[in-house]
Amino acid sequence: MLKNTNWKDYEILALEKGFKVERFGEVILKRPEPLAQNKKRTSIPVDSTFIDNHWSHPITSWTIQYKDLKFTLETGKFKHVGIFPEQADNWDFLRHCLRKIPNAKVLNLFGYTGAATIACAKESPQEIVHVDALKSTLETAQKNAQLNQVDDQFIRYINDDAIKFLEREARRERNYQGIVMDPPSFGRGPKGEMWKITEQLPTLIDLALDRLQVEGEFLVINTYSTNLSKYDVRKLLIEKLEEHNLPINVKSYDLSLPIKDSTDVLRAGQTVRWARQKHLL
Ligand SMILES: C[S@@+](CC[C@H](N)C(=O)[O-])C[C@H]1O[C@@H](n2cnc3c(N)ncnc32)[C@H](O)[C@@H]1O
Repeated sequence: MLKNTNWKDYEILALEKGFKVERFGEVILKRPEPLAQNKKRTSIPVDSTFIDNHWSHPITSWTIQYKDLKFTLETGKFKHVGIFPEQADNWDFLRHCLRKIPNAKVLNLFGYTGAATIACAKESPQEIVHVDALKSTLETAQKNAQLNQVDDQFIRYINDDAIKFLEREARRERNYQGIVMDPPSFGRGPKGEMWKITEQLPTLIDLALDRLQVEGEFLVINTYSTNLSKYDVRKLLIEKLEEHNLPINVKSYDLSLPIKDSTDVLRAGQTVRWARQKHLL
């Protein structure tokens, strides 16, 4: 299990029945957390709570930092505020890979507000292609690029369905050195294309490995689906690597975050990583 202890601007203050209380910079939020079922109530004062599908006190915009990465956050329509803090271990991994791979082209599928894109951009790869179905996330990703003063000329923001985009890249014969993807359990492409991880993950991995076949160096697949374990994803990836005649260098992890004043952690997502060269993992 990976437990990220490098955050200064983020921490889980407590878990309480069905919720987590988190500090994002100076803002304290309470959000639904299905894994927090058996915990007691706390009396920590919060700035806003996501309950009955809305925020009790909307907060328009603020900024937090992880290492040298800055992110703009807001309480919008959903419980997510623009960042998945447990992904910090993957940002570190991507940067570690890119420091060893000059002039890389990186593809970030299901890229959301661009945290992984910004992490990659800090290492100045040749090109980053950021794909998401939701236009508003691309706008936030662009804001994050400005905030981080990364030269966004080499970042392409694409509003497309992940599978359709990979099929288009196949026709254009465009290859990548690295791909990172964080597919949700269910989703929709911009034209209503249905995404269901349990049905389409094999196709997604196939198409991604096609693009990594020639000069690919790494792949990161993150999932949050409760009906798909990291062992399922790992097994599927190994089958597909064998079909593609690529080396079976795979590691899988549960991601987790520490809880303040406690030895407990909160599990949050699972990650499977592949690298052509074993020492990168
Ligand atoms: C779990 S979030 C990704 C979080 C991101 N990796 C991060 O750490 O910041 C899932 C994203 O997938 C996008 N999405 C859902 N269905 C999609 C599809 N069919 N094609 C492309 N993007 C899709 C959503 O708009 C959302 O931004």
